[in-house]
Amino acid sequence: MAAQASLPTLIRKKRDGERLEEDEIRSFVRGVTEGTAQEGQIGAMLMAIRLRGMDGGETLALARAMAGSGRALAWPQAWRGLLVDKHSTGGVGDKVSLALAPALAACGCKVPMISGRGLGHTGGTLDKLEAIPGFRVTQTPEQMRSILERVGCCIVGQSEELAPADRVLYGLRDVTATVDSPPLVTASILSKKAAEQLSALVLDVKFGSAALCPTQDSARELAQSLVWVGERLGIRTAAVLSRMDEPLGRCVGNSLEVLEALECLEGGGPPDLRELVTALGGLLLWHCGLAGGVPQGQERLGRALDDGSALCAFEAMLGAQGVPPDTAHRLCTGTPEQRRGVLGQASIVEELPVLQGGWVQRVAALPLARVLQELGTGRARAGDAVKPRVGAELLVAAGQRVRAGEPWLRLHHEGALSGAARRALQGALCLGPAPPPAPPPRLAETVLGPGTPPGPPGTPELPASAGDGR
Ligand code: URA
Repeated sequence: MAAQASLPTLIRKKRDGERLEEDEIRSFVRGVTEGTAQEGQIGAMLMAIRLRGMDGGETLALARAMAGSGRALAWPQAWRGLLVDKHSTGGVGDKVSLALAPALAACGCKVPMISGRGLGHTGGTLDKLEAIPGFRVTQTPEQMRSILERVGCCIVGQSEELAPADRVLYGLRDVTATVDSPPLVTASILSKKAAEQLSALVLDVKFGSAALCPTQDSARELAQSLVWVGERLGIRTAAVLSRMDEPLGRCVGNSLEVLEALECLEGGGPPDLRELVTALGGLLLWHCGLAGGVPQGQERLGRALDDGSALCAFEAMLGAQGVPPDTAHRLCTGTPEQRRGVLGQASIVEELPVLQGGWVQRVAALPLARVLQELGTGRARAGDAVKPRVGAELLVAAGQRVRAGEPWLRLHHEGALSGAARRALQGALCLGPAPPPAPPPRLAETVLGPGTPPGPPGTPELPASAGDGR
């Protein structure tokens, strides 16, 4: 057997644009996991990968090695084919997981959803759920299995034992300007999904001014990489490209988003939220064989939202993850006032007026989210506390005519609002002298794996492009 190349040799190889072999990638990841690689060496390799890229085979090898760096979850044989999850690259007002996981459970899936916290201006599912008194995001693999047996879904944080190499690499990417690398993002996301032992995965790859990917082309490149590698890891994988220039739904902020997710779970709520929940869920139901095609999957998922079964699963999940039963029941079945009573309200609720009349062109997600983050919806550094009751409700929508003095934003906060923050918020309301052109659809495109069997005519509904194997 050839002698193992040293880490500096591997770094030099990638630096000079050469391809790394699978055993070389495994050796790098072993060094990361066992602590024998120095931080400087890991940072140098990350930068070499960021600048030189990796082909599909290298990315697959990296994802596999990272998945193999820790423990894999184990599930009963009877759940084969039914284990599903969804991952979003991060957005503003994105409460999809809160409605999607229980809706999928109500349709017969097993959903061991592993979610993250908000970082930067984007929100995190775990922060939203922790706005509910008693909710515990930390569950051992054994507890997850027990919850899936009883309820069908759980939403938890990443355990220490799952893909530990990713924790080291992700932390260093953050401080070495190497976050935005498609192979590194692909391997990071999919290593955790592979360790979850999923049957099917759907990815919501967002693009636009408030997203990780600035353009649809860059989102497609990432989605194709994710789908290509995901399929080769044995996971039926699909991705939806969705626009993230405006917030999803009308509410931004942790407890406000829980309230809006509950509306969706009752069959109501904002149409764009329901559209995304049913689109992602429809793909998963099709991929795990519980629906004959995407339209049938969407319809089945919509029924679970309309007939109360998804809400029932959500209430059961809350109970199983530490929320006292009477609290969970009041939250899920109470009036809006009773729900607000459970979650509490920020000390200051004020409405911002329109300064000059006109037609709403859009409400820009990024400036809104940045101010809200400073007010406490998100954190500046990992580990900071968030203020669950801080947030905002949009009172206007694109295409609407507004007059000076009318309220356009209801802001929930807990301290003084600086003049700069107020000005920045007003800057999020984009007005024009005439109605805006019809907005492009939020869901722009679907990316399916090359192995995906063609569905019945008309499936999928969205334009599809196959992973190209890079
Ligand atoms: N989410 C992850 O888990 N990893 C990334 O690299 C980006 C988003």
